[in-house]
Amino acid sequence: TREMIIAPSILAADFARLGEEIAAIDTAGADWIHCDVMDGHFVPNISFGADVIKAIRPLTKKVFDVHLMIAPADPYLEAFAKAGADVITVHAEAGPHLDRSLQAIRALGRKAGVSLCPATPDSAIEYVLDRLDLVLVMTVNPGFGGQSFLDSQLAKIARIKAMIGDRPIRLEVDGGITRDNAAAVAAAGADTLVAGSAVFRGKSAAEYASNIAAIRTAAEA
Ligand code: DX5
Ligand code: ZN
Repeated sequence: TREMIIAPSILAADFARLGEEIAAIDTAGADWIHCDVMDGHFVPNISFGADVIKAIRPLTKKVFDVHLMIAPADPYLEAFAKAGADVITVHAEAGPHLDRSLQAIRALGRKAGVSLCPATPDSAIEYVLDRLDLVLVMTVNPGFGGQSFLDSQLAKIARIKAMIGDRPIRLEVDGGITRDNAAAVAAAGADTLVAGSAVFRGKSAAEYASNIAAIRTAAEA
């Protein structure tokens, strides 16, 4: 068994009770808090920005894993760092200067991640591996929670696992993760799983806890 990080996505939380929802997934066993930032430009949906992250930051000590689905990203990196992001992930497709973006995130003292949309080849990260703390493989087209997992991405996860080798880079997978596919995703090489609807489909912290535990058990089996 390997130790998996489970990162519930607050995109699926009840935004009217966001503070309570953060507290609930904290006590329910979330390892990281995944924050999906969408700009209505890079992806066809708008979610929330740095001010919301800043407001919820004091509610938990857990790692804030901030997934930026915005273009351009560079003008906003400092704001997300100041808001309390621990990991800042930009999309490889979001701009022409990925190497510069990753350098900027590390210069702000944060962990640097790159995310790949389903149609983007694994080779997109080949020349930035030494600037990365995390790779995020999207297993849905980004923009919405509750979509179905794309099996086509399992081969990409395995290839990126091999590219990472023994570097200290986490391999995160995001989109359509459930207790039913977590084992296959882990077997392909993922060590960090994002789950939105599969965690928040419950109504109580106890249900969130059993949802998180079921994904973890399946992935660590
Ligand atoms: C999709 C987001 C995901 C999403 C996951 O654009 O990046 O993090 O919230 O939600 P589920 O687990 O419901 O697919
Ligand atoms: Zn995400």
